[in-house]
Amino acid sequence: MSYTDSVLVELRGLSKSYGTHDVLTDLDLTLPPGIHALLGPNGAGKTTLVNILSTLIPYDSGEVRVLGLDPRRDRTALQGRISLTGQYAAVDGRLSGMENMLMMGRLFGLSRRAARRRADVLLERFDLTAAAGKRAETYSGGMRRKLDIAASLIAEPQLIFLDEPTTGLDTRSRQALWDEITALAESGASILLTTQYLEEADVLAERIMVLHGGRIVADGTAAELKSRVGGSTIQLHDHAGHILDEIPTGGSAADVAHHLAAIADAHPDVEVTVRRPTLDEVFLELTGSPGEQDEADEDPTGGDRTGRKEVAA
Ligand SMILES: Nc1ncnc2c1ncn2[C@@H]1O[C@H](COP(=O)(O)OP(=O)(O)O)[C@@H](O)[C@H]1O
Ligand SMILES: [Mg+2]
Repeated sequence: MSYTDSVLVELRGLSKSYGTHDVLTDLDLTLPPGIHALLGPNGAGKTTLVNILSTLIPYDSGEVRVLGLDPRRDRTALQGRISLTGQYAAVDGRLSGMENMLMMGRLFGLSRRAARRRADVLLERFDLTAAAGKRAETYSGGMRRKLDIAASLIAEPQLIFLDEPTTGLDTRSRQALWDEITALAESGASILLTTQYLEEADVLAERIMVLHGGRIVADGTAAELKSRVGGSTIQLHDHAGHILDEIPTGGSAADVAHHLAAIADAHPDVEVTVRRPTLDEVFLELTGSPGEQDEADEDPTGGDRTGRKEVAA
């Protein structure tokens, strides 16, 4: 495989098993620089893949290049150019925010002065300056996560791995972290994040790879994934906005117009919306499993996951 700066990650036939359990099977992938999301349910192999790419665990077979380097052979060189924030925060609770930053700086071989200068910038950027002198164990979950990410950025990595960066955070902390991740990307770094949240992948990533059963079952922009699932749906509402029915269409103007004409004949007063499939529907179609575990009370209309309900005729 040849490497140019236009290739961030390249996989050819990557496989990884634990005993008889095949976790990753024959993965092929070429990623350009940018923000990419690896989306999949619990146990899909997201952490395994990220840990392979970031040199933490070896792969069994295939070819792997990250920034042109083989994580198995060129481990040290690669470690100097990437950062990894794991699924479980790795900050030392007994140290202050600043001390955590400086410790990470030393680990990456920065001088104390350089580490201090960079720590000031990062703590400010992540809104942790006021808390910098406090022990990390006094921080909220969101603050710990931000400190963890800030510390991992001390050596200005070219590629940042974020393994489920917002899992376990409340909605507000999650939104704040999304803003930070977007800002990071604007600073020129590439990001590969894993997530179980469709919305997160949709908001943050230019490209989404859906990992399921050890394989990448879909790969593209959110719009491309949505178009794989089929055409737009026509929703029928009553005047209060309640959904009465949803009618799948082929997606073309002619097909949508044909359905609308039929609806107008039968129910001249009904209100309609034409909408694209949601990423939830895409995920369900591709993996046969719901994308999120914690949304049992999501659908108060009593419809199934696609929101379909029979119209009261
Ligand atoms: N060290 C290990 N030994 C054995 N099995 C493992 C190990 N690490 C992960 N697995 C298994 O590999 C599968 C994928 O795990 P993981 O990569 O952590 O998935 P995800 O991060 O998508 O939740 C799971 O079935 C998990 O139990
Ligand atoms: Mg994981």
